[in-house]
Amino acid sequence: MPNPVRPARYGAVAQLLHWVIAALIVVQFTLAYLADDLPLGVRKLALLARHKSFGMTVLMLALVRLLWRATHAAPELPARMNAAERLLARGTHLAFYVLLFAMPLTGWLMSSAKAYSVSWFGLFTWPNLIAKNERAFELLRDVHDDLSVALLVIAVLHVLAALKHHFWDKDDVLARMLPRGSSKGGST
Ligand code: HEM
Ligand code: HEM
Repeated sequence: MPNPVRPARYGAVAQLLHWVIAALIVVQFTLAYLADDLPLGVRKLALLARHKSFGMTVLMLALVRLLWRATHAAPELPARMNAAERLLARGTHLAFYVLLFAMPLTGWLMSSAKAYSVSWFGLFTWPNLIAKNERAFELLRDVHDDLSVALLVIAVLHVLAALKHHFWDKDDVLARMLPRGSSKGGST
């Protein structure tokens, strides 16, 4: 049941999901760029295998997060934010939710189109979503790459906005996404 009362801060589960996923996104870019610099070989494939495992973990966590978000209200944006700032904040958050699914799904589809298996840390293998198709692979790789640039740009905007709220506006937007102690508001 959605909570009709808007809480003053994000709850522990929402915070945990936010920071674990944020850390995994950093891991994803690091692994992908390290792999990108290597010639095709065992080392590159090992880095990409890890990239795929962590990427599929993001997909699972994004699903949990979306369900959690749909059933737990988020805090209100500060009253002093104007209409343009609100639109930017909501647009950024929405784009993040879309990309948290679109990144892993295009990756998974890309690997399927190449008939490269997607293992989850060697524990099990995800099924291929589509048949082998070189043209589809190239297209999906381009989409995956382009979306990763969009994700990077949005993440930079998001971090700058969080820092602006904290150091410039001096409101509790950052504090309410951090564990207790730094926020003025109550918790859910
Ligand atoms: C949140 C999840 C993910 C993020 C943020 C992410 C990000 C990236 C980035 C930044 C690159 C490098 C792009 C470039 O070369 O410019 C990349 C490449 C790649 N990703 Fe992902 N990825 C994610 C999930 C996945 C998943 C789930 C898979 C597969 C199951 C996957 C498969 C690949 C592959 C195979 C490449 C190398 C493509 C090539 O040959 O250039 N990714 N990813
Ligand atoms: C790339 C990694 C990140 C992703 C994908 C991400 C995603 C999100 C999303 C989707 C929300 C909205 C939560 C909701 O209402 O459901 C959010 C909120 C927030 N994020 Fe991030 N985030 C990332 C990194 C960061 C970092 C590094 C910081 C801090 C510098 C940060 C600070 C915040 C804050 C303060 C909020 C709360 C905004 C509010 O109260 O309206 N995030 N983030």
